[in-house]
Amino acid sequence: MINPIKLVNKNFLSSLDTSSEEFFHILEIAKSFKNKDLNIELKDKVLGLIFDKPSTRTRVSFQVAMSRLGGTTVELNPSTSQIGRGEPIKDTARVLSRYCDVLAIRTFKQSDLDEYAKWSCKPVINALTDLEHPCQALADYMTIKEEFVDFKNVVLTFIGDGNNVANSLILYGALLGIEIRVACPKGYEPNNVVINSAKKIYKNKNLLKITNDPITAVQGANVLYTDVWSSMGEENQKEEKDKDFLGFTIDNSLVRNADKDAIVLHCLPAYRSKEITDDVIESKKSRIFEQSENRMHVQQALLSCLLS
Ligand code: CP
Ligand code: NVA
Repeated sequence: MINPIKLVNKNFLSSLDTSSEEFFHILEIAKSFKNKDLNIELKDKVLGLIFDKPSTRTRVSFQVAMSRLGGTTVELNPSTSQIGRGEPIKDTARVLSRYCDVLAIRTFKQSDLDEYAKWSCKPVINALTDLEHPCQALADYMTIKEEFVDFKNVVLTFIGDGNNVANSLILYGALLGIEIRVACPKGYEPNNVVINSAKKIYKNKNLLKITNDPITAVQGANVLYTDVWSSMGEENQKEEKDKDFLGFTIDNSLVRNADKDAIVLHCLPAYRSKEITDDVIESKKSRIFEQSENRMHVQQALLSCLLS
């Protein structure tokens, strides 16, 4: 039986906060939880959830993961706590981390998340920022590993906005040495700091490819991935982005250009007929709901490691 090991970093703010060994360990623990081979008790431990943006999957999967570990969660939202009144993060972090054993935070700026982590005396988890969504990436790679057993020869093509979800996928891709292709319209490339960090980790292997042509990007790919074109906080850019992303929809004709055994992933929530068609979401190639389920298993594993 495998037991959770303590991670070297106190916090999980980025995909790069775990080593590749720790990443594989979290996935192994997650698999054991999924197969019901592992029973870890974190009785009386409390996870504080601070969500400045809406959430279905992240919120509920953390709540259920904590409850399966025998612990509890406390949920805060800006309108019913003093966060909305503008209480400084350094005060909120110091207070809440004295009550809770771990905090999961969904907010806008990565620098605000870093500020929580700086002042919190307990581990802080990134539950999505504008820059990264590393819990999502853990579940994504768990789903890919379930399908292809290992990551050798896996080519992942992300089609859409080079935003938080793409950034965390790229960083883990670099850590694991996976070929990542991103197809996005001009001006919507992933964050430069992320690209440069990934390139450094890949060393001189040319495995991160960014293009504006979705058809060439999917040739022979094993995993096709997309995310919404307009993320939370970008509601006022929706009309413009819908125009800019025309031609970047994952539909059956694009899927036919990928490897014949390719699978399709989406972090959800989806706008059907924008970034992906209804047909593709409901097709045999879709592993989207397995991927959603895996959010709970990887987060249960992550909590076990951070609190062990
Ligand atoms: N994928 C994801 O993070 O979904 P929610 O916004 O529903 O949490
Ligand atoms: N990029 C999306 C992901 C949602 C899970 C957003 O930030 O809204």
